[in-house]
Amino acid sequence: EKQIKVAIDGPAAAGKSTVAKIVARELSYIYIDTGAMYRALTLKALEENIQLDDERRLANLLVHTEIDLIQGEEGQKVLVNGDDVTREIRSLEVTNHVSHIAKHPGIRKELVKRQQNLAAKRGVVMDGRDIGTHVLPNAEVKIFLLATVEERAKRRYEENIKKGFTTSLDDLKKEIEQRDLIDSKREASPLIKAADAVEIDTTALSISEVADLILREVAKAK
Ligand code: C5P
Repeated sequence: EKQIKVAIDGPAAAGKSTVAKIVARELSYIYIDTGAMYRALTLKALEENIQLDDERRLANLLVHTEIDLIQGEEGQKVLVNGDDVTREIRSLEVTNHVSHIAKHPGIRKELVKRQQNLAAKRGVVMDGRDIGTHVLPNAEVKIFLLATVEERAKRRYEENIKKGFTTSLDDLKKEIEQRDLIDSKREASPLIKAADAVEIDTTALSISEVADLILREVAKAK
């Protein structure tokens, strides 16, 4: 059976990783969360007090930062130089700084290379901001997931409540809007829908409905 590459892009909190994991499981493909890689470098940079605009020091830090995405029984784990940082990379601190680090062309170039290596030679579902446009331009299936910012903030809010902490809905909305703005306006591979991507507005759809729509595109492409 033919193994293909599935690229899933879209703005923050559009449900990319949730559906990407389901699609990968259904197809027995690997799932690669590229945002986790930008987050891992951001965590390191914050720990080492590196200025977010100091691209040279960030690039040097990245050379010494091994990032592993491990698929385990209880989901994906993210390791930085062997340390489990799965939880830390989701902190508000990292979330509020990551887009500034993701602006730098040199950082993107190195991470894109690592992402392409991870995806080589097998079926893969990869999510991010520039997968269809830059990382896997030849992906057989390209999806662009959308939802209104109100809906995305609401989903994140409910997710947080399930995890046991309360955040303000309004703060979440602001954080999402701010990150989308920086990601869309940057010069190096900004967040944009690839010309050949299928756009899915998930505002009124359930997770399984979105996953089914993507699986239908995969079936067509195989
Ligand atoms: O997907 P996630 O929200 O975890 O991504 C965190 C941040 O990493 C994004 O807001 C963006 O700044 C950056 N990113 C990126 N390109 C990707 C994936 C993530 O610039 N392919």
